[in-house]
Amino acid sequence: MATPLNVLGISGSLRKASYNTAALRAAQELAPEGMSIEIASIAEIPHYNGDVQALGFPTAVTALGDKMRAADAVLIASPEYNYSIPGVLKNAIDWLSRLEHQPFIGKPIGMIGASMGILGASRAQYHLRQSFVFLDALPMNKPEVFIAQAQNKFDADGRLTDEPTRGFLRTNLTALARWTRLVQAGQAATAK
Ligand code: FNR
Repeated sequence: MATPLNVLGISGSLRKASYNTAALRAAQELAPEGMSIEIASIAEIPHYNGDVQALGFPTAVTALGDKMRAADAVLIASPEYNYSIPGVLKNAIDWLSRLEHQPFIGKPIGMIGASMGILGASRAQYHLRQSFVFLDALPMNKPEVFIAQAQNKFDADGRLTDEPTRGFLRTNLTALARWTRLVQAGQAATAK
């Protein structure tokens, strides 16, 4: 049996009833055998401020960085705000990017997104990909998951009920497992 994969899930929405956090919960349910997903919160991360950083990184940032380094892969579920990355998520990424042993370097990344619009947060995902170039992260290219008109795909309890979307998510997670193992094999080979 393949080695287990620990994935760190991060939602780009702080809302209790967030469709994106609900999508991460669905991912926990639909993950392939051997993959487990822990959902971390970015709610306690303050606004990025270089003066605060100079006094010492907030615990919420160092703790998330530690979790990210320990994870085999990261799964981001984010809405798009005004056609781009929600400020809270970009802020968390900006803090993490300033850590010593920057945790995104060489990290396999999966991305999913839910929005109430018809393009399913795709624009936020492409903007995230742009930041990941600078961060030397390794986002999986495809399959992409854009959960459009999320209000019709989740029930009142936040369960992903739309069967085709559950299928896309399952396929995406299986591909993320494959991508993570491919990246890790490459990293192990170059470390020799
Ligand atoms: C939105 N929303 C939105 N939707 C979209 O498809 N494209 C967009 O550009 C935006 N812009 C936007 C900006 C701001 C400030 C808010 C608050 C909302 C709507 C968005 O898709 C909807 O609120 C989702 O429910 C947000 O995701 P969560 O919180 O449910 O995960």
